[in-house]
Amino acid sequence: MKITLSVIKADIGSIGGHITPSKELIDEIRNFVKKNGKGLVIDLYVSCTGDDVAILMTHERGKLDEKIHKLAWDAFMAGTEVAKKQGLYGAGQDLLVEAFSGNVKGMGPAVAELEFEERPNEPFIFFAADKTDPGAYNLPFYLAFADPMYCAGLILSPKMAKGFKFTIIDVEHTEKDKYIELNAPEELYDLAALLRDNERFVIEQIHSRGSGEQAAALSTTRLHNIAGKYTGKDDPVALVRVQGEFPATGEVLSAFEIGHYVAGFMRGSHTGPLMPCKLNSTISYFDGPPIITGAAFCVQEGKLTGPVDVFDHPFWDYVRNRIAEKAIAMRRQGFSGAAMLPYSELEYGGIVERLERLEKRFKFRD
Ligand code: F6R
Ligand code: MG
Ligand code: MG
Repeated sequence: MKITLSVIKADIGSIGGHITPSKELIDEIRNFVKKNGKGLVIDLYVSCTGDDVAILMTHERGKLDEKIHKLAWDAFMAGTEVAKKQGLYGAGQDLLVEAFSGNVKGMGPAVAELEFEERPNEPFIFFAADKTDPGAYNLPFYLAFADPMYCAGLILSPKMAKGFKFTIIDVEHTEKDKYIELNAPEELYDLAALLRDNERFVIEQIHSRGSGEQAAALSTTRLHNIAGKYTGKDDPVALVRVQGEFPATGEVLSAFEIGHYVAGFMRGSHTGPLMPCKLNSTISYFDGPPIITGAAFCVQEGKLTGPVDVFDHPFWDYVRNRIAEKAIAMRRQGFSGAAMLPYSELEYGGIVERLERLEKRFKFRD
């Protein structure tokens, strides 16, 4: 059976700051999709990661389907009404336009979609990150799909011997999608040269070169590029098929042990380590640290079994403690150098006005 997995995610309001949505908000979204998605949606999983709510749907309508996207948009609108009634902070903040048109791309919510003919066993992972941007996935997915140091299958499994094709988006180009396709392993150095720049070049899709099947789909929305001003961080989602011709679940997870430094954290303007957390985790220290959650499923005829929480294991407690130390190490240096993002990435306009004012006070000395 050919099915589509669509995950559409937005921040539409949180309790106590940018921490976590309310139960009532999440219930409203789930009930809305259940009620209005009859005959459209086969199965559904609604979850939160930090202040973001994600709607994962299975259906047979393909990617960028207007009805599916509108259903999610309307559900977020309904959720926003609950957020407003409860006085939640940032109610409706990611819904950047007044009216829905066509699909949610460019309207604020993040979207990732996979369409495939189901294998007899079809496991996949749904990742959601908060307080960071889409480039946060560059390093872990490069390592999981292109580096035998992290993905043993690249040298051990004949099904993976041909490697993977990466589709990369230049997110600075906003008029239309500007993308490049690069093959691993032949073009590894080109791949690394682009993926080092997390703020500009981001992975959108990964395909198996053996079977041609799509392995991964990632959201590439940069709110700051759509709205032209601070509206909250992008908080990207990703869907990754695993096992067989794709990396094993544990290979995909392996690079998240690094807790590599990403952009986001407090006011979307700092550098912090990406911490793998349990499902439905909240946000705390310095409006962070940037977090990622992973929900593993199997799907058959569109019906989901799961989720299993991939980061809920004693191993990750140790990792989280170590990453907390990395967060503190960076935070100790406050605004200095690498701790705060470069000028072009700062998400608050206040500093622009401040620097313009100071510019006028500079004097010249011969
Ligand atoms: C980051 C984030 C928060 C806010 C911060 C200030 O994505 O949402 O760190 O930037 O809490 O929020 P405001 O400016 O809304 O008071
Ligand atoms: Mg968020
Ligand atoms: Mg937010």
